[in-house]
Amino acid sequence: MALFLLIIVLICSRMDHGINKSVQNPMYICICKNVTDRQIRQAVFQQDVSNIRELRACLGACDQCGKCARDARGIIREAASEKMMMETHSAMAS
Ligand code: FES
Repeated sequence: MALFLLIIVLICSRMDHGINKSVQNPMYICICKNVTDRQIRQAVFQQDVSNIRELRACLGACDQCGKCARDARGIIREAASEKMMMETHSAMAS
């Protein structure tokens, strides 16, 4: 039983490490312009970027080969959704 619990603890600690690592290390989305997922999220939260055209104007991403557009669009949508949820939550709290 103790061995089983030890294995579960080790698996959970490895999973936690993986999650924290992905949060701490930014991932390059636009290689042509060296733009990371973190920068895209910041642009959504701080500059109100809501689409690829605005991201291009803000960070210069997605204006060369365009291979990053699909991933960038997904990150914009995800961050915009998080932002909306946070705003809704804070409005309900006040
Ligand atoms: S990877 Fe973003 S324009 Fe090429």
